[in-house]
Amino acid sequence: MKVGDTPYRSIWYDAGAAEVRIIDQRWLPHEFRIVALKTRDDFAAAIRDMWVRGAPLIGAAAAYGMAEAMARDASDANLNATWDALHATRPTAINLRWALDAMRTLLTPLPEPDRAAAAFRKAAEICDEDVESNRMIGVHGLEVIKDIAARKPAGEPVRILTHCNAGWLATVDWGTATSPIYQAHDAGIPVHVFVDETRPRNQGAHLTAWEMAGHGVPHDLIVDNAGGHLMQRGEVDLVITGTDRTTATGDVCNKIGTYLKALAAQDNGVPFYVALPSPTIDWTVRDGVAEIPIEERDGHEVTHVQGKSADGATAEVQISPDATPARNPAFDVTPARLVTGLITERGVAPASADGLRALFPDRAA
Ligand code: MRU
Repeated sequence: MKVGDTPYRSIWYDAGAAEVRIIDQRWLPHEFRIVALKTRDDFAAAIRDMWVRGAPLIGAAAAYGMAEAMARDASDANLNATWDALHATRPTAINLRWALDAMRTLLTPLPEPDRAAAAFRKAAEICDEDVESNRMIGVHGLEVIKDIAARKPAGEPVRILTHCNAGWLATVDWGTATSPIYQAHDAGIPVHVFVDETRPRNQGAHLTAWEMAGHGVPHDLIVDNAGGHLMQRGEVDLVITGTDRTTATGDVCNKIGTYLKALAAQDNGVPFYVALPSPTIDWTVRDGVAEIPIEERDGHEVTHVQGKSADGATAEVQISPDATPARNPAFDVTPARLVTGLITERGVAPASADGLRALFPDRAA
């Protein structure tokens, strides 16, 4: 997507400088910073400390991290140590393990001198596939939005609530939840997006709001607790979120607070869709609540918030008493029964084992 007039991806290989570059998301929306990642430790820090975040982008960054590691030392020992180091960064998004496994499966049989070039090719392929999958998620999700638009008085916007940032910044490009929104907006279908701020790190306020403004999509930032109220008043037509791991049975793990939105949507008859590329499906897991590891992050993210201070600089303030302890589970699981449909690159599936198997018979096996 464009930043100003310049098209960007969230991660790319700069051939001239021979380095991988990312948009450092810690500084958005107030500062647009690009940094190069060079060593395995750079990539591990970037994923763990959320310079890059969002399940598909975490996978893409890990793939490039493996490629850079191979360029320095293509031994089996380094391949395995890099897999371990990057895999340990964040536990919930399955795209991380998917990408690392794809790299290791490709590289292990190759002679050491061939590994770095093959790894860079594969990382680029993973990025391109993510972009195309997300574009297709938009094509299929657009039909959902069109259906709702057709039932509304002409010209009235389809009002879509989204949680966290499942936008182009969370993927390589397009985003998952945002791809249908961008494609509807581009097709001239009026949409209005309610952007959950998404405490504690405020990915909605910082990132989704920035994306919507950048693309000219009408939107309102809302506090996390406002969604249920707006749904009760009939002000939300549709919820679309992303996911960090979806089970083979259609349970959806996503940013903390997603479950509460799904409950409110169910109570108010609002369709609740989840958009995902197929690498986000964990075919080995059937019960999301019991089996998906939920990342617990530092309580500092709860007790402090970051924003722009009066002098324009990015600053952090503490919002709770000095000694207040905090719990910070970063994700929750929405059971399949609360999900209206899963929007994938192959079409929209019911959130069920049969629904997913019908779209992905090759993977389900
Ligand atoms: O902790 P984050 O910012 O990595 O969490 C991101 C989300 O929860 C997204 O909704 C999810 O990764 C899907 S991204 C297309």
